[in-house]
Amino acid sequence: MDEKAELKVAGKSYFFPVITGSENEKAVDFSKLRDQTGYITYDPGYGNTGACSSAITFIDGEKGILRYRGIPIEDLAEKSTFVETSYLLIYGHLPTKVELEDFRTKLTYHSMIHESMLRFFDGYPSSAHPMCILSSMVSSLSAYYPELLDPVSDEQVDALVPRVLSKIRTIAAYSYKKSIGQPVIYPVNALNYCANFLHMMFAVPSEPYEVDPDVVDTLNTLLILHADHEQNCSTSTVRLVGSSHANLFASVSAGISALWGPRHGGANQAVVEMLEQIHRNGGDVKAAVTAAKDRDSKFLLMGFGHRVYKSYDPRAAIIRRHCDRLLSKQKVKDPLLDIAKRLEETALSDPYFKERNLYPNVDFYSGLIYRALGIPTNMYTVMFSLGRLPGWIAHWREMHQSSDSSRIGRPRQVYTGETISPYVPIEAR
Ligand code: SDX
Repeated sequence: MDEKAELKVAGKSYFFPVITGSENEKAVDFSKLRDQTGYITYDPGYGNTGACSSAITFIDGEKGILRYRGIPIEDLAEKSTFVETSYLLIYGHLPTKVELEDFRTKLTYHSMIHESMLRFFDGYPSSAHPMCILSSMVSSLSAYYPELLDPVSDEQVDALVPRVLSKIRTIAAYSYKKSIGQPVIYPVNALNYCANFLHMMFAVPSEPYEVDPDVVDTLNTLLILHADHEQNCSTSTVRLVGSSHANLFASVSAGISALWGPRHGGANQAVVEMLEQIHRNGGDVKAAVTAAKDRDSKFLLMGFGHRVYKSYDPRAAIIRRHCDRLLSKQKVKDPLLDIAKRLEETALSDPYFKERNLYPNVDFYSGLIYRALGIPTNMYTVMFSLGRLPGWIAHWREMHQSSDSSRIGRPRQVYTGETISPYVPIEAR
């Protein structure tokens, strides 16, 4: 018999279907709650709300498990490339050789942006954060593809997906070049996705630039680790914006804006700024932990805590290992890595953090590894955006293909304002 949940309200019983996911997670289907009872659910921050069903990513926050399309993140980080993982997330299966080659070719040949867009960059002050440039430029891309913007046309979406993945990478690199006053470096078709990005970031016209294969490998791993995380704030934003049938560029641009906040992807920049501050203060990690526990201070340990993980974020563990490996290979001793490790140790042995299950999240070590790759601090969240792109696209596409998400996203509210009030003329106020 199908499982039902009973709700007793105002002396009456109502029954609602229970949905079970493929990993046995349970949800009560309240989609008919208001129709049947006149009540709505109330869940600020959506901590208990399933906004959709999805077959893309599975997280078990208690056990620290993360899988894309069923494949453990550890295996993908070790064996896959970012391009292959993007294909997996977006199209639902690991590509065959032919499918992968076709996808790679499309990414290669859609990497340039319209030349007139280069002038847009000149309009920004040199102090502009690359995230604001990125979100505006991505939104502007829709001006150049009016024939590919119909979200319910499979043909148009399929043509658009590689363009979005490839051109946003180019814009990300250009936004950095413009911020340091260097000429942009055009994409090179002979280079793969990550090598091409590094080349656009670090080459200059006056001398040859060799892309380091170790750096390419590390970048692939980092982007894979960021590629999706089910219904996080930016992905939910992309879905919500997309539910109005806004085009893919507009939806992704909104996702970039959501990611920028320091409670979400912006935390990777905030972590390194926090570590630098601790370093300047003599490396006192205990003082930082004490400040983070003080309810009257606004200070939080950036890169700590997570809505879903109540154990160690598996991505943070992988990034920490890569960070150690890369720095020892480069024979670099970064004092901030030492501070980060001592901070983690101190926080994890503190009752405040233990009781609240606060562990390092994906943003805690990622900034340090970008630093080791030579990527500047204000580009860290741009790097997160590049990584998260396939996840945003996969969710946007899944939403348009799924029957249960065919309605516009539109939460309700519990109104707490004035009841009906007279309009008072200005002279009488
Ligand atoms: C990402 O959702 C995703 O999947 C996101 C992400 C992805 O891949 O998309 O994983 C990427 O966004 C990682 C998170 C990056 N943000 C930070 O590192 C910023 C610092 N952390 C937080 O502000 C916070 O932990 C959140 C936003 C990550 C989670 O917020 P929640 O789930 O709403 O938790 P909460 O704020 O209600 O915290 C619960 C308790 C509170 O204390 P009490 O009121 O119960 O006494 O824990 C405390 C909080 O004050 N707390 C912290 C803390 N994080 C939570 N205290 C000190 N330092 C912290 N970092």
